Amino acid sequence: MSIIVTGGDGYIGWPTALRVAARTDERVVIVDNLARRKWVEEVGSRSAVPVAGIDERLDAAREVHGLGNLSFVEGDLTERSFVDELLQVHEPSTILHVAAQPSAPYANMNGERANYTQHNNMQATRNLAFGLAENDMTDTHLVETTTTGVYGAPEFPIPEGGAVMENEGERDEVPFPAMAGSWYHMTKSHDAANLRLAHGQFDIPISDVRTAITYGTETEETRVDDRLKTRVDFDYYFGVVAHRFAAQAVAGYPLTVYGKGLQRKPFISLEDAVEGLARLATMDPDDRPDGHVVYNQVTRPIAIVELAETIQAAGEDLDLDVEVTHVENPRDEDEEHEMEIENDRYMELIGEQAMTWREGASDVLESLTRYRETITDHEDRFLPAALQDEAE
Ligand SMILES: NC(=O)c1ccc[n+]([C@@H]2O[C@H](COP(=O)([O-])OP(=O)(O)OC[C@H]3O[C@@H](n4cnc5c(N)ncnc54)[C@H](O)[C@@H]3O)[C@@H](O)[C@H]2O)c1
Repeated sequence: MSIIVTGGDGYIGWPTALRVAARTDERVVIVDNLARRKWVEEVGSRSAVPVAGIDERLDAAREVHGLGNLSFVEGDLTERSFVDELLQVHEPSTILHVAAQPSAPYANMNGERANYTQHNNMQATRNLAFGLAENDMTDTHLVETTTTGVYGAPEFPIPEGGAVMENEGERDEVPFPAMAGSWYHMTKSHDAANLRLAHGQFDIPISDVRTAITYGTETEETRVDDRLKTRVDFDYYFGVVAHRFAAQAVAGYPLTVYGKGLQRKPFISLEDAVEGLARLATMDPDDRPDGHVVYNQVTRPIAIVELAETIQAAGEDLDLDVEVTHVENPRDEDEEHEMEIENDRYMELIGEQAMTWREGASDVLESLTRYRETITDHEDRFLPAALQDEAE
């Protein structure tokens, strides 16, 4: 038996694999096609934090944390024959499916990238679901990091899962509609629907983990050795807003808030995200909630302008002079949307939050100051060309 972590070379997958391996005697198999490394190169950027090669990462995990049960298989999950062989050889008790092309701006760049993203993400998920069903592995727990982006920005508190719909006086709970706002986010809306169907048709236990925007440069396991660090991107395409702002602060570049910045977005620290996935991977099947379960993997919504101001305040402690500026919003969104989102099930899963956003902001800034040179060398990657003049 084993636990498979797809996307285990990526930002969330790598620290997750480390934590899962530390908590289990089963073999933990990382599966990745190393595509993220290429995508970031393709857009002319690089991770602020240098990322060791996968073999060096595994050697360090063994030396530093004694993780002899962690291994790596290179392969593309869109290939069904590869997925079948993977499942037959490793017989997973759980699959943490963390692999995806996760960038909305990258997917939205043009039709070719949108096609690539939709094919990549949805085909990989279908291959895993059908692979389990057709190899008689329907007891395997399939966990996927989808995204809170599937909810869009509704004018009511977002439930943790379905929504109640009412028509002509009758009410029913229905799967939440696909309100995703990008070609990438829509892959996760479709995945969420397909996961629900896979549970209905094959009876596979499914955890649909709707991951929020994840911030943080370190977890307990990555802090102790440079070879164990996870990637932290800061460019327009692959840097999440919290990391982009932190990198801008470190480079002495104004923090570019899109539009008014009053829109609240859901966030979670890397530490809290990894903890929930590790608990799901190592959970006793008898303790698992039945069937198909949705978790809102979020600790709290934060307004974009608050995000920037917190980085500004954290920057003062490090003697960074941080300016916040507003630029024209390249996204089509309500700039005052006050998101509310339920997360009781996820909070019960992790117990308590490891760090607040204020603590997280200091941690990210402190880490990134070590890599100032890489960031300033690529500061033309913070914004798309059309917005650069405005910010300067
Ligand atoms: N980081 C966030 O803020 C965030 C927010 C919401 C949801 N998510 C979701 O969490 C997951 C992890 O995100 P991340 O930020 O770590 O992304 P990432 O790009 O760093 O990691 C994904 C990994 O999957 C691999 N991969 C992609 N397609 C593959 C394929 N066909 N076969 C094998 N490997 C493949 C990539 O090489 C990469 O290493 C994704 O599913 C993403 O959609 C992330």
